[in-house]
Parts: sequence; structure tokens; C-alpha cells
Amino acid sequence: MAFSILGISGSLRAASFNTGLLRAAQELAPDGVTVEIADIADIPLYNDDVYQAGFPAAVEKLRQQVAAADAVILATPEYNFSFSGPMKNAIDWVSRPPTPQAFDEKPVAIMGASAGRLGTARAQYHLRQVLVFLNAHVVNKPEVMVGGASGAFTDGRLPDEKARDLVRQQVEALRKLAQKLA
Ligand code: FNR
Repeated sequence: MAFSILGISGSLRAASFNTGLLRAAQELAPDGVTVEIADIADIPLYNDDVYQAGFPAAVEKLRQQVAAADAVILATPEYNFSFSGPMKNAIDWVSRPPTPQAFDEKPVAIMGASAGRLGTARAQYHLRQVLVFLNAHVVNKPEVMVGGASGAFTDGRLPDEKARDLVRQQVEALRKLAQKLA
């Protein structure tokens, strides 16, 4: 059965390592599993006045993409020991009514790449906490935390076999979790 994953990168940088991680997930996904990468660059900063007037087009598109996907992968950078502002902003928009919001009961996996040795560990645990409120179902293991990111990627590609294997395993764990929940 076809299984669709939406990947959201918390970095808007063209050469983002986190977007690179999502490309690795795309490449390593098994047959029957597709990974589409969302574009959150045009999502405005959350403003409740704008929300009251109606979802902006880029937000509406993301809401629909999250709702339509069988599962979501959030690839987050670590900014000041937490996950990035663009990621939080995108999630905040998607979380707004009408309910159920699109993350409710959604199977989600978290991955991340950062400059530091812990490879977004602190960011990921903050993000996990936010997903509790949203009632998402988050993959526990394996964790994908790529440290020293500038040395881990070559031309936007993740060459390390151990890291690639973790990405592969996490995509598989996400599909299994979704199947259990279905
Ligand atoms: C960082 N960076 C960073 N790295 C880290 O390991 N822990 C941290 O707390 C931070 N804090 C931080 C704050 C801000 C504002 C920036 C811009 C950067 C470095 C970060 O890991 C690095 O820039 C990554 O390359 C960001 O991910 P992308 O853009 O490559 O996906």
C-alpha cells in the first residue's frame, strides 16, 4: 500500500543540512513510501488578526499537506538549544482551529542536524513536548541526531552509512507506527 510522508524542514537556508536530511529520507525510503518536502518559506509570522481574517495561502497549503499525508517528518535545526523559530511558527499556524487540527493523531518522526556534538538533541526534546499538546504520535526510536553537520554533509548529501541507516530505520519505524494506529 502506498504510504505518503510530508517532510517539513525547520530551516529556510538553501543549503540547509536539515533539508538535506529530508532528501536523504526521500532517497532511502523503501518502495511504496514517498516523502514530499513542504515549502514553508512563504508562511508569515503568526498573527492572530491575520488568522481571524483567514489562513494565508501558504498556511492553507501546509495545513492541507499535513492533513493529507499518512505521516510527517519534522527535520529541525537547533537554535539556542531549542528547535527553530520557522518550525514553531509553521506548527503554530497548523495548530489553529478548525479542530481537529492536522497534527491530531498524526504519526510524526523527528530528525535533526546541527553544528554541535549533540546533533539537535535538546531541540528535539522541546519539539516532542509541543507534539504532546498537539496529540501527535511520535516515533520513539531510532533517534536521528546528526552532530557536526558541516562535516557530515558533502554537497548537500549525507554520505555516512550509519547516519543513513538510522534515517532508513526511522522511516520504517514511522510507517510501522502509522500501521499500528490505523
Ligand atoms: C545555531 N546553531 C546551533 N547549533 C547547535 O548545535 N546548538 C545550538 O544551540 C545552536 N544555536 C544556533 C542559533 C542560531 C540562531 C543559529 C542560526 C544557529 C548552529 C546550527 O546548528 C547550524 O547553523 C545548522 O547548520 C542549522 O541548520 P541548517 O540551516 O543547516 O538546517
